[in-house]
Amino acid sequence: MSTLNVNKEQLKKIQEMQRKAVEKMSKIKYKIAVLSGKGGVGKSFVTASLASALASKGRRVAVLDADIHGPSIPKLLGVHGYTMMAGPEGILPVTAAYGVKVVSMDFLLPSEETPLIWRGPLKTNALRELLAEVAWGDLDYLLIDLPPGTGDEPLSIAQIIPKVDGAIVVTIPSDLSRIVVKKAVMFAKKLAIPVLGIIENMSGFTCPESGKVYYILGKGAGRRIAEEMKVDFLGEIPMDPRITEANDRGVPFFVEYPESEAAKAFLKIADKIIRKIEGESSD
Ligand SMILES: Nc1ncnc2c1ncn2[C@@H]1O[C@H](COP(=O)(O)OP(=O)(O)OP(=O)(O)O)[C@@H](O)[C@H]1O
Ligand SMILES: [Mg+2]
Repeated sequence: MSTLNVNKEQLKKIQEMQRKAVEKMSKIKYKIAVLSGKGGVGKSFVTASLASALASKGRRVAVLDADIHGPSIPKLLGVHGYTMMAGPEGILPVTAAYGVKVVSMDFLLPSEETPLIWRGPLKTNALRELLAEVAWGDLDYLLIDLPPGTGDEPLSIAQIIPKVDGAIVVTIPSDLSRIVVKKAVMFAKKLAIPVLGIIENMSGFTCPESGKVYYILGKGAGRRIAEEMKVDFLGEIPMDPRITEANDRGVPFFVEYPESEAAKAFLKIADKIIRKIEGESSD
């Protein structure tokens, strides 16, 4: 682990940021982290779509793109290229469809190709500063999109936010993902973050011509892992080439294809999350 030499003044600044971050977070009703053991399983797509689904149900939602090295939420929500402005109350998030507020490093980087060469402590400070300095406004949900694995960013989030209300683990339907998914579930449990459940992404692909379903990446691993780990299975999102196409184009899939099976699946998952998090009073 790298050591960080901080002088008294820097320490004071960090403490002040932490105090501010804690205060801001206490005003957001529910904080949910989305993680996965493996990269490229569709975490960011799931986070973005779930945010849209929750917001379409009248919830006030924000997404923190905590993937500092590869921020992708702005593109998935159709707001890539926008910038965050400074307002009297702090940094103003960018607003996407359904009023979803978006905070991402993507808005602060000079260009898409600029890599951020930062180590652990710097990343923690950057995340803390974002949480502290953003004018989040009145929010029901903050969804936090994390980079793959169980490294610096998820740990930082758990350190900075005193109470994360839940973790959602995203997987693909292949049994090969079993070990990494289990690691992600164990990680959340170790940090005392309740696991809301597992979402299986890139499940069956339905051939538009024949209607036949092909299980390209395998079948049912998400549900099996959930049973083994004794956590809930929240649902499956089918594989759909329109998802890749919309994501590449930088338009929000959930908004663009509301009639798709994937969009409907997100609405059902949003209902489950609302019931789990808000309990009986959810209606
Ligand atoms: N259900 C799906 N059907 C088709 N394509 C999908 C689906 N879900 C995600 N994709 C595509 O898979 C790719 C990876 O998705 P995404 O970036 O959301 O994954 P990730 O887990 O966040 O990746 P990383 O680990 O790099 O953060 C994207 O190109 C996305 O468009
Ligand atoms: Mg991602």
